[in-house]
Amino acid sequence: MITWIHVGVKEMGKKLLALSGSCRRNSNSEHLLDVFLDEFISVAPDSYVIKMVLIDGSRVIKEKSQETGSLKGLEFLQYPGGETAVSERVWDIRPCLGCDFCVSGKCVQQDSMEEIYGKLNSADILVLSSPVYFYGLPSHVKAIIDRCQLFYNKKYRRKEKWRQQPGTGILLVCGATSGKQLFDGISLCVRYWFDAIDFEFSGKVVVRGVDKPSAVKKQIKALDEVRELARSVAERL
Ligand SMILES: Cc1cc2nc3c(=O)[nH]c(=O)nc-3n(C[C@H](O)[C@H](O)[C@H](O)COP(=O)(O)O)c2cc1C
Repeated sequence: MITWIHVGVKEMGKKLLALSGSCRRNSNSEHLLDVFLDEFISVAPDSYVIKMVLIDGSRVIKEKSQETGSLKGLEFLQYPGGETAVSERVWDIRPCLGCDFCVSGKCVQQDSMEEIYGKLNSADILVLSSPVYFYGLPSHVKAIIDRCQLFYNKKYRRKEKWRQQPGTGILLVCGATSGKQLFDGISLCVRYWFDAIDFEFSGKVVVRGVDKPSAVKKQIKALDEVRELARSVAERL
């Protein structure tokens, strides 16, 4: 398992893992995430932040890439004190096979999830920001969640304690329409995911009525809510 990347800076900082669930350029949900991270880092500059982003779909189309099936992405790191790094990544995240091999304490598949398990394991704070796809999560995000059946089995079938204390889990979501139940499916899914991986569901911001790229930038009230949530998480550290 890969441990947290660390370059000789203070050990004290909390570790925040941010997952951006959109593949779109100028993504609304990624903007929500960036607003959250900016505020969080301004209040807690000694934190380690890893942001995992998928490469934008529009770039795939433009470059006529044959590799539309692979999940390319970027990884942004912000070390305590402000040093940053960016790397290009290819995430190979296969769907859960439902084989129950993970009752043994290990997943039968060897892919990028091994690294993501490690990151989830060592994160104190987890922020998932995602668009709504058909009242649920995009399939690449859901694949990560399903593969966390490993943690569910560790917790409930093997009775193994694998975290010292529960982490802090945050959800940010946006969707195009204004349906009352627009975020119900995602909220329930993420609530049970956080429980399985031992994160407390500690807050969410949902934004309706944003469809075009960057449309969320005009949602001043929602962005303020995101900042307030980030501040409250950072101040609780
Ligand atoms: C495959 C797909 C399914 C979608 N399903 C819904 C939906 O069920 N309800 C909704 O309100 N918006 C839906 N949308 C719209 C997106 O949620 C919306 O455009 C959002 O702002 C995109 O966020 P992003 O820019 O972070 O990708 C869907 C978009 C796509 C591409």
